[in-house]
Amino acid sequence: MIAQTEDVVVQAFTSRFGGRPRVFAAPGRINIIGEHTDYSEGLVMPAAIDRFCLVAMARNGSDTIRAMALGRQEEAEIAPSFVRSGSWVDYVSGVRQSLRDAGIEVPGCDLVIHGNVPEGAGVSSSAALEISTMLAMLACAGVTASPVEIALWAQSAEAKYVGVPCGVMDQFISANGIAGHALVLDCRSLTYERAPVPPNVAFLLIDSTVRHRLVDGGYAARRADCETAAEQLGLRVLRDASHAMLDKSILSERQMRRARHVVSENERVVMAAQALAAGDLSKVGCLMNESHASLRDDFDVTCRETDILADIASQTSGVYGARQMGGGFGGAVLAFVDAGAVATASGTIRDAYRVQTGILANSLVCRIADGACEITS
Ligand code: GLA
Repeated sequence: MIAQTEDVVVQAFTSRFGGRPRVFAAPGRINIIGEHTDYSEGLVMPAAIDRFCLVAMARNGSDTIRAMALGRQEEAEIAPSFVRSGSWVDYVSGVRQSLRDAGIEVPGCDLVIHGNVPEGAGVSSSAALEISTMLAMLACAGVTASPVEIALWAQSAEAKYVGVPCGVMDQFISANGIAGHALVLDCRSLTYERAPVPPNVAFLLIDSTVRHRLVDGGYAARRADCETAAEQLGLRVLRDASHAMLDKSILSERQMRRARHVVSENERVVMAAQALAAGDLSKVGCLMNESHASLRDDFDVTCRETDILADIASQTSGVYGARQMGGGFGGAVLAFVDAGAVATASGTIRDAYRVQTGILANSLVCRIADGACEITS
């Protein structure tokens, strides 16, 4: 699949700009558990998936960066200094600006961008775009950087320039993913352990088709709640909170729920990693169900449709557990499923969702892939 997409971007590049480009790919991601914990320096358990954003790049000998988004049939010249436009161009321009902040100047080049990471479904098409663009721009500048630096610069592009105050999870896993493994990532130290995923399970993503818009402020509001709750508790971040510290006389009812989500979700990541290592798949599934309940009741980031979907999925035969995944306010539900049951489960879940909501959901079975790299053949 990636080879076919590579042919498409190379051909588009050659017919638009001429010459033969180098091609870079970065994956989207799933997150098994550990939601809305990364920006409190907590624990997450993401994996890179076999859906990629590809960027074809060649230097053009000028001062200008031109970028073409193939799927949209749009082309833009990147302004010399960052000006927010509210479109896909912000990601390209933001990455260039973030590299500049790190002291790396990107020479003039042409870029063709194309991918198959679904947008708005919670699988981080934005991180895939940022990381693939960053690899292309670093190659253009002749600079090598570590995957951790790449992740941090891309996070800064999104937070500072695109305007979503995200954590580091999505960019980190897109740059560092390992095929067949989830990573148990500590978002404070940026160290991780590999968590091998057994071959007899599958990850089924069911897109509620209700679209979130993180830029709309819900995400930033949750982050602000976590920051004020930490401050009230005399902590820098909620990573350092414990259940015993969550005092009703200090925190408002809302802050209490936000903090309880973060504390309990960090615990669930540890337990899920242990259960996965022990082959206790039912336990992993239970923890995912509990994560959804916490996102719904304490963090208030689910919506009617994803609640229905998670509920249906978790009760479907062959499914160990299910939860809304990603930033929230809609998007996709991730079901952790017995590999032999995945096709039937997918049909059952979509049928029941249609009956209850009238919405026809899309679904996708994700394979766990490697992180970003150059794929020029
Ligand atoms: C988005 C952000 C991540 C993370 C998740 C929620 O995907 O980009 O940093 O906060 O939401 O877990």
